[in-house]
Amino acid sequence: MSSTELQIAVEAARAGANVISAYTDRSRAQSFELKGRHDLVTEADVASEKAIKSVISHAFPDDVMLAEESHGGAELTDERTWIIDPIDGTTNFAHGVPFYAVSIALWKNKQPEVGLVLGVVQDELFTAERGNGAFLNNKPIRVSETSEKSEALIGTGFPYRDLSVLNDYMKVFDVMMRETHGVRRPGSAAYDMAYVACGRYDGFYEYALAPWDVAAGGLIIREAGGVVTDWKGKENWLSGKRITAGNPHIHAYLQSVLQREVHPDLL
Ligand code: IPD
Ligand code: CA
Ligand code: CA
Repeated sequence: MSSTELQIAVEAARAGANVISAYTDRSRAQSFELKGRHDLVTEADVASEKAIKSVISHAFPDDVMLAEESHGGAELTDERTWIIDPIDGTTNFAHGVPFYAVSIALWKNKQPEVGLVLGVVQDELFTAERGNGAFLNNKPIRVSETSEKSEALIGTGFPYRDLSVLNDYMKVFDVMMRETHGVRRPGSAAYDMAYVACGRYDGFYEYALAPWDVAAGGLIIREAGGVVTDWKGKENWLSGKRITAGNPHIHAYLQSVLQREVHPDLL
């Protein structure tokens, strides 16, 4: 039995997904504005966020919201906060590539309590509540058992706003290409993390992600038996802009590569 909070999160995500789908039907390529270098926002991002916030604020009028398109520089505090990415994978969406998701998490007592990632085109609903396991379309999921790096499929994202880490990133990439079964960069961090949770990928790492990219996916991975840390192996993965996730074996492998290849100042 899921909590009212999760039920509302599902309702809100479906409201957002309906809005996104209405835009998808209109045309393949979406018109967009650049927020910054390589950083775009479509009308659908803004409309999806509005629909999601409306459902949540109706149910929980006193809760704080940290949503990507309207955060205005706000940070997480001790208050109960909904962390919302109305479309994770906007670049894919704007180009008609069908891999993007709605991501919603509830932050409570300084940790994610509820997490939801909805793959919009695939209609894949990943959910978790702290202490209650993780689910894909209401069926329990677990991370993979792969322990050999040569058999591990790894997800990542390429930095594009802050390129200070690019050289070290390429060194890590070089190692991964040689040592693992392959590296994927599908373009939606939240959905990528859900892939780790259900065992499609064995591990994931990325630099410069925001709380709305990772809050839900991180909880879902943990509830599926996986490990999530920052690049120092510590707990600051949600706001720390560096994340490593995976089943316990492949998380440890990814950490060893990052520790070796990335300059200590950038860890
Ligand atoms: C982006 C996606 C992408 C990741 C970027 C994120 P957005 O989110 O998660 O995979 O590499 O860093 O910003 O902008 O599509 O919500
Ligand atoms: Ca995002
Ligand atoms: Ca987004």
